[in-house]
Amino acid sequence: MTSTHAFWLAGRQATGETTFDVTNSWDGRLVGKVSVPTEAQVEEAVAAAYAVRDEFAALPAHARAAALDHVCKRLVERTEEIARLISAENGKPMKWARGEVGRAVSVFRFAAEEARRFNGGEAQRLDTDGGGTGRLALIRRFPKGVVLGIAPFNFPLNLCAHKIAPAIAAGVPIILKPAPATPLSGLIIGELLAETDLPAGSWSVLPVTNDKMPALVQDERLPVISFTGSEKVGYSIMESVPHKHCTLELGGNGAAVVLADYASDEDLDWAAKRIALFSNYQGGQSCISVQRVIADAAVYDRLVPRIVAAVEAMVTGDPSDDATDVGPLVSEDAAKRVESWVDEAVAAGATLLTGGKRDGATYAPTVLTEVPGDVTLATEEVFGPVLTVQKVNGEAEAFAAVNDSKYGLQAGVFTHDLQVAFRAHRALEVGGVVIGDAPSFRADQMPYGGTKRSGVGREGVRSAMDDYTYERVLVLTDLAL
Ligand code: SIN
Repeated sequence: MTSTHAFWLAGRQATGETTFDVTNSWDGRLVGKVSVPTEAQVEEAVAAAYAVRDEFAALPAHARAAALDHVCKRLVERTEEIARLISAENGKPMKWARGEVGRAVSVFRFAAEEARRFNGGEAQRLDTDGGGTGRLALIRRFPKGVVLGIAPFNFPLNLCAHKIAPAIAAGVPIILKPAPATPLSGLIIGELLAETDLPAGSWSVLPVTNDKMPALVQDERLPVISFTGSEKVGYSIMESVPHKHCTLELGGNGAAVVLADYASDEDLDWAAKRIALFSNYQGGQSCISVQRVIADAAVYDRLVPRIVAAVEAMVTGDPSDDATDVGPLVSEDAAKRVESWVDEAVAAGATLLTGGKRDGATYAPTVLTEVPGDVTLATEEVFGPVLTVQKVNGEAEAFAAVNDSKYGLQAGVFTHDLQVAFRAHRALEVGGVVIGDAPSFRADQMPYGGTKRSGVGREGVRSAMDDYTYERVLVLTDLAL
């Protein structure tokens, strides 16, 4: 019999009156039942978070850091078990699930380190004009208020970690809502936090159902919303609470540019391998997976067959098998949507070089060229194991092609030329430019976020701590400076 997973209400375990099922998209098996908090329990968590604000902000750095270090240590100890859980609820192949646990370890470690150095304060002299004589400003950061963190399904552990760890590091209470398809990994973070001495109310992990979220979003005791998910839902949240601080980490259709100087056999083998890997990792369900390859005409003919070979070498199958590179998508519906977009592109004249087949929730790694610019696949985020290759002439045309998108999350540029790297940094309308690799590289301490429809604000441990807090100036007068 499958046991029911409790949730975490103001730091303690609780169950509600109803449950929902979490299933594995590879074989349809039931992974777990999750208890859903009642409206009264949600109210209790919000009230507790609101009430503990001042106490939590005043908690010494060593206490916050110790709690974060504890979670870090326990994640390391339980890596294999948690990776299996991620894989089971998300369909993510084990090799990527283990990597995700490792990244969450880093997030908690960075958060512990940042907790120790955050907010020492910055002094600014004010006697630079006569009116400021004898005055000094001390600038420190203070919480904006309780955070409502809303996490997506694609990194069910690490993107929960990116919401909750910076909140604890900065002394800001948080209500975390994991994704309904994959709540179990977020609940594990609750289990580990419950082993610490953090004040009751400073954190809750509540698998609230999506239909109950509008009321929570509107709650005035939660002035900060940190959302990761779809463009549509993200902007609808922001538009419904224009007076709140919203950080939105939304979609992307990541571009990998391969320029003419990246032309040796070794270069092209590396570019093709990285492109194939990061178009298909976790079934392409990452906002920075490679969706668009933009290749200079000088390398195009040698690059495309290499990409196709590298994509065809990906092992597709059971996510619990260590050998598997590409597992199923999160659901059969998701795979059907990807299938319909590829079919639309092919019907409009695109050339299918490999893939293009669906089996249940699994979509075969797919490569297309000659994709017309107006089809859905060319304009929207596919969030599946599909890449398109486009031929361009020269750097300027390549950079213009990257920017010809409503999204702007990250871009990769394969070049050896340092001047080109600087020009890419200036020209590309994205939150991050990766030189010599795919756009999918992310270190968890980096500022991470997008431009245009990819969102607003930045995550990455320190960036999120800044995001949850604001600067307040203390002006000291009558100093003999
Ligand atoms: C995302 O899908 O936005 C997260 C990507 C990552 O953390 O690697």
